[in-house]
Amino acid sequence: MTHDEILQLGENLATRSLADLWSLSGRVAVVTGGARGIGLAIVRRLTEVGARVVMSDISQEALDAGMAQLSDAQRALVVTQPANVAKTEPLVALADRAKAISGKIDIWVNNAGIFPATGPVTATLDEAYERVIDVNLRGTFVACREAANRMERGGVIVNIASTAGLKGYQTIAAYTAAKHGVVGLTKAMAIELGGAGIRVVAVAPGGTETPGVVENREKMAGQGRAPASGSDMPLGRRCLPDDIARGVLFAASDMAAMVTGSVICVDGGTMA
Ligand SMILES: NC(=O)c1ccc[n+]([C@@H]2O[C@H](COP(=O)([O-])OP(=O)(O)OC[C@H]3O[C@@H](n4cnc5c(N)ncnc54)[C@H](O)[C@@H]3O)[C@@H](O)[C@H]2O)c1
Repeated sequence: MTHDEILQLGENLATRSLADLWSLSGRVAVVTGGARGIGLAIVRRLTEVGARVVMSDISQEALDAGMAQLSDAQRALVVTQPANVAKTEPLVALADRAKAISGKIDIWVNNAGIFPATGPVTATLDEAYERVIDVNLRGTFVACREAANRMERGGVIVNIASTAGLKGYQTIAAYTAAKHGVVGLTKAMAIELGGAGIRVVAVAPGGTETPGVVENREKMAGQGRAPASGSDMPLGRRCLPDDIARGVLFAASDMAAMVTGSVICVDGGTMA
């Protein structure tokens, strides 16, 4: 590619307004695990900038509860489809449904995840390990494949990783392994798909106050174990779902047109 050609491609972005670069008007996005927590916050932000969203989660009941928390304006841009991400068939059906809306998928956010405290590796049962890997890593792998196969130039996959995808933590080794896998998958796919103009980005949240975390905390308290306080975050508080959603919005928008294969930490400084 010549210098002039590079300038021309770059100029196409540099001359667009910020409002236009943030806009996802007309684009179709899929969000897994979208019914609550970080996923629901992502659905809210994507619709705010005009995306049509296929909100997916484990059951229609969960999705109905999520829909009930959206405004009328948000709901008008959202359709729901249940899909257990641990299985291939529901993910294929989800991808087909999203593609049917306008002929291609523009954005796919792999957010569905579980984070049980499986205990020290020496005491972790095969079944507990496999469940975490099936949902968090296999589910992301299969969904990435199905999404990429239905994307065109400009498509974006955003994988929700974790600071546990970048460093080790005690008692959640299966989760840590799965999230490191998600980071590796993100890098590998970014390289494979770059030539097709498809970006793959990971967003790594730090500890975030979500229904799943509150449930875990209650379970741990019941077992007499101390929950994470979050006061060790340099910014002095734990993340909220919308903190993560704004990072995802950046990754998914043309603001991040030159970002791929990266891990964007939204972690209050945890990784520092
Ligand atoms: N909350 C945190 O502190 C934190 C930190 C780092 C990363 N993350 C990641 O963020 C993502 C969202 O977590 P959250 O805290 O919002 O959790 P949450 O439990 O509040 O919400 C997760 C959603 O995923 C859905 N889900 C679970 N298993 C599923 C499956 N097999 N198929 C389809 N949907 C399924 C749940 O029904 C739920 O609606 C996860 O990938 C998690 O690992 C969370």
